[in-house]
Amino acid sequence: MKLKDKVAVVTGGGSGIGRAICQSFVREGAAVVVVDQNAQGAENVKEELVNAGGKASTFVGDVQRPETNRDMVAHAVKTFGGLDILVNNAAAVLQRQVVDMKDDEWDHMIKVDLYGPFYGSREAARQMIKQGRGGRILTTSSLLAVQTRGLQAAYSAAKSGVIGFARSLAIEVAPHGITVNCVLPGHIRTPLTEPMFTPPIKKAFEDRIPVGKLGEPEWIANVFTFLASDESRYITGEAIIVDGGYTINGELPGVQFGPTSQEV
Ligand SMILES: NC(=O)c1ccc[n+]([C@@H]2O[C@H](COP(=O)([O-])OP(=O)(O)OC[C@H]3O[C@@H](n4cnc5c(N)ncnc54)[C@H](O)[C@@H]3O)[C@@H](O)[C@H]2O)c1
Repeated sequence: MKLKDKVAVVTGGGSGIGRAICQSFVREGAAVVVVDQNAQGAENVKEELVNAGGKASTFVGDVQRPETNRDMVAHAVKTFGGLDILVNNAAAVLQRQVVDMKDDEWDHMIKVDLYGPFYGSREAARQMIKQGRGGRILTTSSLLAVQTRGLQAAYSAAKSGVIGFARSLAIEVAPHGITVNCVLPGHIRTPLTEPMFTPPIKKAFEDRIPVGKLGEPEWIANVFTFLASDESRYITGEAIIVDGGYTINGELPGVQFGPTSQEV
């Protein structure tokens, strides 16, 4: 068991990638606080974890509020005796042209997707430093931090922002045995994205992704579990892309550059 007796807080734990992270952490022996603004989603996941023999609790709140982040850490300490792992995973999405973007839409995106991880990481770091037994601070960034599309300016700005934030924080807390890393999922099948994957769109992605498939939440959760464990002790300030090769694929279908080996 890679996370035996560890205590984890996972935001956005009530669905999709967050849910898979909670399940993986519990399988590896951690006690988990499932944080979500959707109370029913959090409760459902908690029941799944408890029915599987794990230790779990819920905390309902909106991560854009500093109080949510402060109180979720306090809840973990009160319920399970401390905090070893934070996963900042909850996020908002918005598809909007910059020229049409309203101030409050921009504010909302940055508050949930950038302020949220800042508040959460700050509270977790304070608690972990106080405990003096190290820790792991992890954030779900996105492929769209490094390779984006139109309509994603606010989301891409925030998801890039968490990477710079994590790198600087990693240096500050390294002397305390705390590592700070980001995971950048590619195109993953979750309740958020599933409606988007109509058959032609799914086929277009499968053609474009070198490993030939959309991702499953469990494949992202596996990477979080490694980063949350002692096995990753020498990795900090990293942004790890998990996308089946989507971002490295610069091939143009049907186009071959330069002479072939037979012609040389
Ligand atoms: N699914 C993908 O393809 C993909 C790709 C790259 C990155 N991501 C990132 O992965 C993370 C999880 O996405 P998902 O696809 O599992 O989505 P999801 O919608 O299935 O789950 C997100 C959960 O977060 C909760 N949440 C949203 N805003 C919140 C807030 N302000 N406070 C508290 N809880 C909140 C939702 O209620 C939901 O339960 C997000 O950070 C997302 O940006 C997803």
